[in-house]
Amino acid sequence: MSHPPVATAIPSSSLHEIFRAADARELITGTPVTRLHVGEPYFTPPAEVAEAIAEAQRAGRTSYTDVEGLPELRRLLAAKLELENGIDTPISRIFVTPGSCQGLQALLLSMAEPGTEILLPDLHWPIHVQQSLLAGLRPVFYSLDDRFFPDLDSIAEVSGANTRILLVNSPANPTGAVLEADRLAGLLALARERGWQVISDEAYEHFVYEGNHLSLAASERDLPAEQRIVHSVFTFSKSLAMTGYRLGYVVTANDAAAAGIRVVQEAGIIAPPTPVQYGGIAALRMPEAAEVNRKLVQQNRDTVLPALRDAGLLRELPSGGWYAMLDISRTGLGAEAFSAQLLEERGVAVVPGSGFGLRPRLDDRGALVAMDTDPAADKLVRIAFCVDPEVLRSGVDSLLAFVNDRNVR
Ligand SMILES: Cc1ncc(COP(=O)(O)O)c(C=O)c1O
Repeated sequence: MSHPPVATAIPSSSLHEIFRAADARELITGTPVTRLHVGEPYFTPPAEVAEAIAEAQRAGRTSYTDVEGLPELRRLLAAKLELENGIDTPISRIFVTPGSCQGLQALLLSMAEPGTEILLPDLHWPIHVQQSLLAGLRPVFYSLDDRFFPDLDSIAEVSGANTRILLVNSPANPTGAVLEADRLAGLLALARERGWQVISDEAYEHFVYEGNHLSLAASERDLPAEQRIVHSVFTFSKSLAMTGYRLGYVVTANDAAAAGIRVVQEAGIIAPPTPVQYGGIAALRMPEAAEVNRKLVQQNRDTVLPALRDAGLLRELPSGGWYAMLDISRTGLGAEAFSAQLLEERGVAVVPGSGFGLRPRLDDRGALVAMDTDPAADKLVRIAFCVDPEVLRSGVDSLLAFVNDRNVR
């Protein structure tokens, strides 16, 4: 039996679909959509970043760099990782990447033994699923408890002899959960016991409103590198609002992993974009900028989201990240219908939870047969609260009015 190419079998992410639906509605109605679907912040990168990039271009610093990125940038990253994350690493294990999305993809490609399993959370960033499938991995999903924390028993239960990688995302997209020290220690202990590698996606490291951000790799700092198993992924996109610059970085646990990702990057990108790396150097010289941005998003969270909690749509305010998952069961609508009707009637775009509860069905060869979704995710929709406060408030007001119109309890 022949199979279509892997990439064509994988459906486009619902995150991209809702973008298209929102754009189409604006075109048809001529009125702007209130965009709560997209994690695009309302604040902007520091002016120094644009200036450093322009200066790099003017000065002709536009040729390829090392595949790992500029040593000067990686030295600053090593210092940041030590100071802020408690991760000790030589610069030879740091890879600057065009966005952390590409860093994650490169890491997965470098680690994947095709046909083996990767453990992903029940509710996940859908790109993690796409990336796993593209790398030839079989995603297996672990449960989250009622606070969206990974359930260790479930991880132990769903894993098996073929499991190789555990993916952890804290602060989490889409749930906003921030993992505490105990849970992280439990995850790491289990991974060590079973011989898994761990990928820690820390894209939202600077957006924590309750508790502290803890980097999983910090707990391995006293181990010799060859015994470490945690590979960490970070980005400038969120902390400094540099989404369109495409700048992130990967810290591999040890030299063997660094050798693997180096090959993937040689084959895939040659090197990260040079002028943008100078922008990264400028950004790292202003560590206070991320803290200013955190306060802005926290202000949105603290002022607008309580209305959703009071309406019974949100169990608790998210402890971190840019997103909240709303439970819309009281409307009697499924997530897809809720999102489509909310867009149609009130001009507010949100993302249906089903897009975060993907369940790829694979055949014995690992070919994708169908992309199912977890029925439990059908009662959830995601909103982004990193947007302009007025936009957020008006979108949430419209969403609450829409829910009240349904008048179902
Ligand atoms: C959990 C998570 N990881 C990684 C990324 C990738 O961000 P970027 O490629 O802009 O660094 C995102 C972006 O939304 C994300 O939500």
